[in-house]
Amino acid sequence: MTNRFAVLLAAGRGTRMKSKLYKVLHPVCGKPMVMHVVDAISQLNMKKTVTVVGHGAEDVRAQLEGRTDFVLQQEQLGTGHAVLQTEPVLGKENGVTLVVCGDTPLLQAQTLEALLQEHESRQAKVTILTAQASDPTGYGRIIRNESGLVDKIVEHKDATAEERNIKEINTGVYCFDNQALFKALKQVTNDNAQGEYYLPDVVGILTARGETVVAYQTESLEETLGVNDRVQLAEAEKMMRKRINERHMTNGVTMMDPEQTYIEADVVIGRDTIIYPGTKISGKSVIGEDCKIGPQSDITDCKIGDGTVVRQSVAEQSEIGAHVQIGPYAHIRPESAIFDEVKIGNFVEVKKSMVGKGSKASHLTYIGDAEVGSGVNIGCGTITVNYDGKNKYLTKIADGVFVGCNSNLVAPVTIGKNAYIAAGSTITEDVPGEALSIARARQVNKENYVHKLKHKQ
Ligand code: UD1
Ligand code: CA
Repeated sequence: MTNRFAVLLAAGRGTRMKSKLYKVLHPVCGKPMVMHVVDAISQLNMKKTVTVVGHGAEDVRAQLEGRTDFVLQQEQLGTGHAVLQTEPVLGKENGVTLVVCGDTPLLQAQTLEALLQEHESRQAKVTILTAQASDPTGYGRIIRNESGLVDKIVEHKDATAEERNIKEINTGVYCFDNQALFKALKQVTNDNAQGEYYLPDVVGILTARGETVVAYQTESLEETLGVNDRVQLAEAEKMMRKRINERHMTNGVTMMDPEQTYIEADVVIGRDTIIYPGTKISGKSVIGEDCKIGPQSDITDCKIGDGTVVRQSVAEQSEIGAHVQIGPYAHIRPESAIFDEVKIGNFVEVKKSMVGKGSKASHLTYIGDAEVGSGVNIGCGTITVNYDGKNKYLTKIADGVFVGCNSNLVAPVTIGKNAYIAAGSTITEDVPGEALSIARARQVNKENYVHKLKHKQ
């Protein structure tokens, strides 16, 4: 098989984004644009992938480290100049070189594979991925001769009025014979409207030499969308969201309203799980089977077991077991471990805590820096008092404990196995197992007090 190489162009500034963040690092469905492109390329058996970096080189490199090689384009003199920078790495190789831009996040591996196969079977020197655009403004146009063969590509800014009527556009994706590419690149000049070295000029140089140049037209124009500004970013986000949601639905996930369901690119969801509207699931979250998530829930980097229900709640960087009930209006903060069959009810906040199997905190509770055993019942309004203004302390609640309503557990403190805490207690000392602890002022009833008050003078 022919050796395959890839060049990824990611040195441009992205001026039209009007952003502090470099263009190719803007996320689409939670993942930087350029990462989507790298993910697609990695499925194609590349011998080597080289990313051309320039603006924001450090940041782009940091993002892609380990996934591709890099070359630096000191000055951004055009796409042809950018590809030429890879010559020290690729110049001596024989094979096919795929060139892709870092701002086309919707490109799919199968489209690129089809392009590579077309190129290989036609034994072309260059195969251009083209598309029919109803509005081709801004794109390079494919100019064909009388016999319908590709002659050259003309950039929008250099095109005549007649050429601008052409709807077939250069998507910015190409396969080249590697040797032919670097040879032709040396002949590219910057004598054009933008004073740049255009990569597409390689096409005209090769046809003039009588080489085989092929245009491979893709049906899916939307896949080739190049993101230059935030309006296009939103379009890309919408299309990517649709693609992700359709993948999950095809795999057996129910979505009540896919248009209002926001699932990031790397999330995994089990079969027969139902996602209700207004739900956002992000990062590296893995959701089990038969769960019910939402409406209006926001889950980031969580692992959730089978049959768990999360209603109107927020959960971050935590592990949540199977058959757990969360919400409505609960907040699971980072580094929490909620075991199977737990109930975390209305207005309960859990932070950096473990809650053991079958335990319940059904209402209005704060559990922070705590280790809660299994079968524990935490009454309404209970608070682990974990912070003295300077340091955080641990609360340990052993298996089977019953904490009465409106209790304060002042950490560091340990409640022994099966102990009872009377409602309204402020616990400052450890409680032994099997004990009942009452820590509140004893009730005093002053008989007839109201009568005395009214008749005082
Ligand atoms: C380019 C093509 C155009 C095509 C369009 C498709 C050229 C001259 N034109 O135009 O025919 O229709 O893509 O989207 O190639 N870059 C560098 N270094 C540079 C310049 C650019 O790395 O010196 C990178 C950018 O970061 C970007 C990519 O190359 O990822 C494309 O550059 P951009 O300026 O967006 O090209 P277009 O004007 O969109
Ligand atoms: Ca572009």
